[in-house]
Amino acid sequence: MNTFQIAVLAGDGIGPEVVAQARKVLDAVGDRFGHQFVYVPALVGAVAIDATGDPLPQATLDVCLAADAILFGAIGDPKYDNDPKASVRPEQGLLRLRKALGLYANLRPVTIFPSLRHLAPLREDRLEGVDMLIVRELTGGIYFGEKGRPTPDSAYDICSYSREEIERIAHIAFAQAGLRRGKLTLVDKANVLETSRLWRETIKDMQKDYPDVSVDFLFVDNAAMQLILSPAQFDVILTENMFGDILSDESSVLAGSLGLLPSSSIGAHTALFEPIHGSYPQAAGKDIANPLATILSAAMLLDHLKLWNEAALVREAVAQILAKGLGTPDLQPAVLCSCSEMGDIVAHLLSDADSPGIRGIQISQRLSTII
Ligand code: IPM
Ligand code: MG
Repeated sequence: MNTFQIAVLAGDGIGPEVVAQARKVLDAVGDRFGHQFVYVPALVGAVAIDATGDPLPQATLDVCLAADAILFGAIGDPKYDNDPKASVRPEQGLLRLRKALGLYANLRPVTIFPSLRHLAPLREDRLEGVDMLIVRELTGGIYFGEKGRPTPDSAYDICSYSREEIERIAHIAFAQAGLRRGKLTLVDKANVLETSRLWRETIKDMQKDYPDVSVDFLFVDNAAMQLILSPAQFDVILTENMFGDILSDESSVLAGSLGLLPSSSIGAHTALFEPIHGSYPQAAGKDIANPLATILSAAMLLDHLKLWNEAALVREAVAQILAKGLGTPDLQPAVLCSCSEMGDIVAHLLSDADSPGIRGIQISQRLSTII
């Protein structure tokens, strides 16, 4: 039996609920295929501030460093949002974690489930063929540059990148493009920003090492428009930290709900898997959040552990469920289910129902007639 240690950083808001569903799914995979996932919970974000005063306690970092992978929920609490002078914020926990683990590459796939096309605000024909991967730089740029408040009425955030920081993530993006449709689009603002000119120069220099990948360059304002006008043109989008943050939220509308988009963050130390959505505090504790982004992040985690077959099955189960019209409220489904029911159903589909050894996954009578 393979044993994997998973650091579980559920975080704030709906984080614990959606992470609990992903754990059900991993357990079902483990039961069926003979893997054991050992979960080690640790505090991050507002819950960590409340308990320890620090959004990323050292104990959490130690748990992450010792794990095979990190499953992350969400971070953020409105009680910190409206205080511009707050010296400690939940988000710092995530940013420091990314930096401390050297997770410089954030992979955000955008896939369209055919049964959900009607949810996107675009004409359905524009969604034909949409399948892209946003590769976002995650530990540099304006997020991590020097910041300051020299006077009460002025502030600055410095954006800087080194060639090395650009090259290491570009290698990942080129490699991903090579495994996909062979197209890489660098999104930048090279008509204005010096850092963007360095990105362009670096990518151009690297192009010769990847003869099978075609490269094009787009300014970020144009890219924001093209993502809505003709999203199917994109295969791999490579971009810096802040542009990637913005464009990945924009791209999520193509999928129909922010609640569907997973991500992985990889780099020097333990890789981290998290939904791209936030902590959705209005929904916390109501059992209405969509756990699929976290479940699909768990599928990326399985890929990372080289359990490719298992990962593919999770994606297949999710697609089947959506095709049957089941969904959480954000999906305006034909058959409404709760966050925890969704976790039960995915886990149920994954467990081999004929095998008596499988941990008993219960789904409600109402839903069992549908799947
Ligand atoms: C994301 C989030 C984070 C980011 C926040 C919570 C700091 O928006 O992962 O996209 O800006 O990177
Ligand atoms: Mg974001």
